[in-house]
Amino acid sequence: MTSRIRIAGTVKVPGDKSISHRAVMLCALADGESRIRGFLHAEDTLATAAMMRALGGRVDEVSPTELRVVGAGLRGLTEPEDVIDAGNSGTTIRIGAGILAAQPFLSIVTGDRYLRRRPMKRIVEPLVRMGATIAGRRGNTLPPLCIEGGRLSGIRYEMPVASAQVKSALLLAGLYAAGPVTVVEPLPSRDHTERMLSAMGLSVSRHGNEVTVRPAERLAPLDLDVPGDISAAAFFLVLSASVPGALLRLPGVGVNPFRTGILAVLRRMGADIRLESLREEGGEPVADIVVRGKELSATEVSPPEVPSLIDEVPALCVAAALAEGRTVVRGAGELRVKESDRIGAMVSALSSLGVSCGEYQDGLWIEGSTRILTGVRCDSRGDHRIAMSLLVLSAAAGVPIEVTDTACIDTSFPGFHDMLKEVLR
Ligand code: S3P
Repeated sequence: MTSRIRIAGTVKVPGDKSISHRAVMLCALADGESRIRGFLHAEDTLATAAMMRALGGRVDEVSPTELRVVGAGLRGLTEPEDVIDAGNSGTTIRIGAGILAAQPFLSIVTGDRYLRRRPMKRIVEPLVRMGATIAGRRGNTLPPLCIEGGRLSGIRYEMPVASAQVKSALLLAGLYAAGPVTVVEPLPSRDHTERMLSAMGLSVSRHGNEVTVRPAERLAPLDLDVPGDISAAAFFLVLSASVPGALLRLPGVGVNPFRTGILAVLRRMGADIRLESLREEGGEPVADIVVRGKELSATEVSPPEVPSLIDEVPALCVAAALAEGRTVVRGAGELRVKESDRIGAMVSALSSLGVSCGEYQDGLWIEGSTRILTGVRCDSRGDHRIAMSLLVLSAAAGVPIEVTDTACIDTSFPGFHDMLKEVLR
């Protein structure tokens, strides 16, 4: 698929969302003053900052992307005066629940209408087994969650789904437990929590697919540079990879091996992607990514790959729609319970754009390289990653697409519109 649009330039993507959430949570639990530079200033991460303030952590904005956090200490949090609003952010409520489950007070956490539909049993069940009291709507499975923290016991927990949020919630609860907490993952998920806890002086051990933390006395403060978010970069990676002649440079992107599935898949599709100046920043691997556009061909994404690219599937659907042949993604049933049902959302949008595609319960298929219909109205379903994917498809195919509710992009990537405009010449 060729486009008359020229795509060129440098895109400095904002700070990693997962790392920004964890940094503000853990620094608010540390002893002393931390600095977080490159913090993602977006609705989701600001919800986490507000939660930690409500619990007694001091979180000051030195600038929109730099925070000074004066930690309350692991045992210094105080009962929030009001309901905590996690907004649209699953990471805030789920990892936050791990901290709250260990506090000797009551917390109530809610979120927007999308978050209030997302499954919470995955954290409620193991935290209750550790000794917390948690109530929620629909038989304790949906927010708001009412968490009465308390003395927790250790646990060895085999997670039914690969989830870094669940793993992180249990590891943070484990800092307060009476014994070790071991989480067994069905497939490895992002390890930012483990890396950050190590940087704060704790020993986190990994044996095969098991991660263990032991009860802790204190966390050392951090001086942290958050790498660029590969999940934000994904939209520009797909845009430049799938338009022949395009050339984009994305400096300072986090390339944690549990997050780089998108690079492997795009390369398999024929993309020319190079990592330059590979280095380590804040305990995470970082690189400058250079992408040159090529004609892409279809590929298959198999279940073991999925955790390393779970948030990038909507963007990959765009690459698939522009590639030659049939792309198939399986083992991605988790997409049904993200900010929207992302399988349903992408298949419905692509179908209305004239792309031949279909759903499986755990994935989708897309027949690429058909002509994208012009002037179609597509529903983002209030989901930032669906909105950005459709805008990237519009840009890459050179076809106007009207996307409803693009305000949701601010949950993870304020500035996306301007950056997109900037690279389209
Ligand atoms: C995240 C983990 C993933 C991901 C989400 C962020 C995290 O969710 O989809 O956007 O920061 O730990 P799951 O843990 O539900 O897989």
